[in-house]
Amino acid sequence: MNIPMLDLVGQYKAIKKEIDQAITDVLESGAYIMGPQVRQFEEHIEEFLQVEHAIGVASGSDALVLSLHALGIGPGDKVIVPTFTFFATASAVSRMDATPVFVDIDPENYNLDLDQVENILKTQQDIKAIIPVHLFGLPVDMQRLMDLAEDYHVYIIEDACQAIGAELSLTSDEVSSFTAKAGAIGNSGCFSFFPSKNLGGFGDGGMVVTNDDHLAEKIRMLRVHGSKPKYYHSIIGYNSRLDAIQAAILDVKLHYLNEWNQKRRQVAAVYNETFQAAALQNRLKWPQVVPGHIFHQYVIEIDGRDELAEHLKANGIANAVYYPLPLHLQECFADLNYKEGDLPRAEQACKRVLALPIDPGLTEEQIKYIAKTVIDFIQR
Ligand SMILES: Cc1ncc(COP(=O)(O)O)c(C=O)c1O
Repeated sequence: MNIPMLDLVGQYKAIKKEIDQAITDVLESGAYIMGPQVRQFEEHIEEFLQVEHAIGVASGSDALVLSLHALGIGPGDKVIVPTFTFFATASAVSRMDATPVFVDIDPENYNLDLDQVENILKTQQDIKAIIPVHLFGLPVDMQRLMDLAEDYHVYIIEDACQAIGAELSLTSDEVSSFTAKAGAIGNSGCFSFFPSKNLGGFGDGGMVVTNDDHLAEKIRMLRVHGSKPKYYHSIIGYNSRLDAIQAAILDVKLHYLNEWNQKRRQVAAVYNETFQAAALQNRLKWPQVVPGHIFHQYVIEIDGRDELAEHLKANGIANAVYYPLPLHLQECFADLNYKEGDLPRAEQACKRVLALPIDPGLTEEQIKYIAKTVIDFIQR
């Protein structure tokens, strides 16, 4: 067998007719920048996430930068970020000349440890914002985080780049319990349409969502060099627009997103059943299948991770390490003076985690073959 992490070409072929038509429509419209397809896709995201404003931008990284910029984060400000995430979460803060304050993980689910967040809010000055990352597609406990944000007057910028369609339960004063989508709860939510994301384009793309009219207006200006109207610049912005061809492709794929996310959950459930049946609890850690999780990645944890990765590769099974080095130990952040041992749970996870194939089109036979290859490695 030869099993990739994701079969992006297979996904394209399954919906080729619709995708090709959408691309042709853009080519024939001549509206290649900010055309009607961009606005249409934004409107569909507004409906999907139940938010007031969706603003297409060039990437998930830019979605973070534009959010921070629009909220006025700058020199002297500190922003709490998890250390166990993709680099862009923290580099966006540094690009604003603000300072990232790294937080360790909750060892149960790899999301940021909210006890540590609370402690930092209590003890450190100048914290202006928190960027929770819904890592691997599992939502952070936004109820608790929004309560902390209210108590300490900080902004929340959700990094939902890995979590489009993920859901969580919340309560409010008016409604006892309701379901919300990841990214739709904080001051802003940031999404990436990098090809391997659950909703991925054929190139880079991103989106900021918000319910704040003023913030939306500012982000809309920032993505076009700070201009409004065109050629009149009251602020300095960026060139960061969602490409029209990508928007048209993503709009087609959005129809399939819930189905694909559900299939990813089913893939995860089959892995879990197989590991459970082999009674490996003491040797292997696997993720819980909770209802709102969209399994952007299916990540296991094991001693001898690198050997297992080789063993899987030798058996035709792709795998990947997200992430091999926590951000607080990255060379570019050396001036922040973190050292090994400062955030030990994330450091430990970086040595033990391994992502297995999670393509929604994996067959039961393939999933069981992958799980069995892991089990054979452990029982060898
Ligand atoms: C958690 C997280 N944040 C930010 C990004 C940045 O997104 P992009 O690659 O679209 O710039 C990504 C994806 O790559 C991500 O996984």
